[in-house]
Amino acid sequence: MKTALITGITGQDGSYLADFLVEKNYKVYGLIRRSSTENLWRLHHLHDKIELIFGDLLDHHSLITAIQECEPDEVYNLAAQSFVPTSWNQPVLTGEFTALGVTRVLEAIRVVNPEIRFYQASSSEMFGKVLEIPQKEDTPFYPRSPYGVAKAFGHFLTVNYRESYGMHASSGILFNHESPRRGLEFVTRKISNGVARIKCGLQDKLHLGNLDARRDWGFAGDYVRAQWMMLQRDQPDDYVIATGETHSVEEFVARAFTRAGLNWQDHVVIDQAFIRPAEVDLLVGDPTKAEKELGWKPEVTFEELVDCMVDADLEKVQHEIETGETQPQMKMRS
Ligand code: NAP
Ligand code: GDD
Repeated sequence: MKTALITGITGQDGSYLADFLVEKNYKVYGLIRRSSTENLWRLHHLHDKIELIFGDLLDHHSLITAIQECEPDEVYNLAAQSFVPTSWNQPVLTGEFTALGVTRVLEAIRVVNPEIRFYQASSSEMFGKVLEIPQKEDTPFYPRSPYGVAKAFGHFLTVNYRESYGMHASSGILFNHESPRRGLEFVTRKISNGVARIKCGLQDKLHLGNLDARRDWGFAGDYVRAQWMMLQRDQPDDYVIATGETHSVEEFVARAFTRAGLNWQDHVVIDQAFIRPAEVDLLVGDPTKAEKELGWKPEVTFEELVDCMVDADLEKVQHEIETGETQPQMKMRS
């Protein structure tokens, strides 16, 4: 039985990766940080199948202790401040988590056991103002946010530890991936949740920013499979994980409202509060290397992804109404 340690296990990807590794008969540990309110909703179904251990990417000592206690074969570093707009409001903290946090995890591995295999959650945000279409592993980076800059640091540090110390450290350059477990602040889930609330009469308008931005959207369940595949290779390397298709936010909106039998033009309001200081206009990845070397292919199409997110939120909101558990929608300015 192999052992894995996942940082960021409470997040979208962490929960899908935990599902995947449990299914593969791994012993799974998840690193969580202390919180005054419970935030384990994505993991409840795994309560007797994984073990949680306290630690924080800001605290080097806690990472060393966690790795010593778990004795993992593989570490998946998914923890990060991952919301792009927050990176302008909290650029220093984003650097601490998302950039220097990678150094702390890699150093902890190097000190405890450099044979441990390491996965770094790199991002298509590093391509930013893209210098090539589609984006490949060797496309130069031009990040457009403090988050993108921090991810570029984590990416190159991973390459550097591989080259400096011969560590089995791989970096997955993942394009946007979504699911019903996506955080509510990201545009896809904001849309699917908004559509469901409008359909159920809980609100009438959905405030959004730039509808022209284009993203290469895939399903998170497909993408965590690629993360695992990278660590099973004899040689560590970097891989673009993407569908190769790009769609605008407006296309996502139109399909989501149509799925619920609504006309988006009746409900969507363009709100300057959601326009970013610098935008990433177009992302589309070329996953050829991952297809050839890992044998990885996405299985869920864009249309299936939108439909499944809307259906899941419709079911969730209807259930909340039936059980009287509806929560007021808090106003968030980004
Ligand atoms: P997510 O849902 O925002 O989850 C982020 C996770 O990081 C949460 O578990 C969070 O814990 C944890 N975390 C944040 N700061 C931490 C700290 N200081 N110490 C320990 N844990 C901390 O993100 P995701 O969508 O699953 O993405 C996973 C990773 O992939 C992230 O690194 C993200 O930047 C990267 N990525 C995501 C995408 C995508 O489209 N989803 C694409 C490319 C790359 P709390 O629950 O305590 O906040
Ligand atoms: N969040 C949000 N809210 N985005 C909006 C809105 C809105 O109301 N209206 C339009 N958008 C546009 C954004 O301007 C952006 O161009 C696009 O929708 C996608 O925004 P997000 O869903 O917030 O994702 P992201 O592309 O900025 O970042 C995600 O993908 C990266 C990979 O490319 C995150 O998951 C990052 O952590 C990840 O690295």
